[in-house]
Amino acid sequence: MNARQAATEASGRLAAAGIADARFEAELMAREAAGISRAAYFAGTGLSAEEARRFEEWVERRTRREPAAYITGHREFYGRDFGVGQGVLIPRPETELLVELGLAELDGDPRAVVAEAGTGSGAVAVSIAAERPGARVLATEISRDALGFAAANAARHAPWLPLIQGDLLSAVARADVVLANLPYIPAWEIEALEPEVSRWEPRVALDGGKDGYDLLRRLIDDCAQRLRPRLLALEVGFGQAADVEAIVASHGVAPWSVKDISGIDRIVCARWA
Ligand SMILES: C[S@@+](CC[C@H](N)C(=O)[O-])C[C@H]1O[C@@H](n2cnc3c(N)ncnc32)[C@H](O)[C@@H]1O
Repeated sequence: MNARQAATEASGRLAAAGIADARFEAELMAREAAGISRAAYFAGTGLSAEEARRFEEWVERRTRREPAAYITGHREFYGRDFGVGQGVLIPRPETELLVELGLAELDGDPRAVVAEAGTGSGAVAVSIAAERPGARVLATEISRDALGFAAANAARHAPWLPLIQGDLLSAVARADVVLANLPYIPAWEIEALEPEVSRWEPRVALDGGKDGYDLLRRLIDDCAQRLRPRLLALEVGFGQAADVEAIVASHGVAPWSVKDISGIDRIVCARWA
């Protein structure tokens, strides 16, 4: 059987498991299992016994709704390849906005200290450090599992990046730019999410407490009382920007929001300095 035939056969099983884009996902897995380009896939390149076995194992895992990125072990973010797996959140494309905001601040002041709270796979901090090798960037993370992925990704792309295990930015004395994509899903909503998220991604990366804002409130407080960054940029979920702006505004600064490519208010920002 060639890669395309195997993918066509598997797409039916993936669709039956509730996967929306089953045909496309089957193609991606078949191509990755065989290490072939799209052109080679359509040209009818065959699968070796080892590749066919690997593809079959991946399809089986995917029918249990394990995220594709955990199965293949990686995800692209801001043009770089990041290793991911169970124990770490898969970086999402909308989070690339945090990278852009951080880079813009560094363009204004290359000496600024950029701190990311809750770095997960390291996607944001590693991308910024790799884009600006001379910049002062650091990242924190509370989960030991996630920190392992961040360390491996930093080793590949920005080995000089300091990674600190700790609670938010409590171990950080100075930060001019604070970036964070913290857990912001209300605890009661998690079970209703797609199984790829609710069953597989780590709870510590999702659960924002009763209303979703527990961690955001704590980080905003720390910025208001201690760090007073020139830029605070916080990723928020759909429909949350107004609430988070109100939390920020209660500290006497004027927040604003940045939209993602879907037109959703995605990042709430504020300046203290
Ligand atoms: C939504 S995930 C985002 C991960 C990564 N920044 C990204 O955008 O892909 C939130 C991350 O915050 C971490 N986290 C949760 N509570 C934390 C805390 N109190 N201090 C530091 N990190 C925390 C989680 O382990 C998780 O990696």
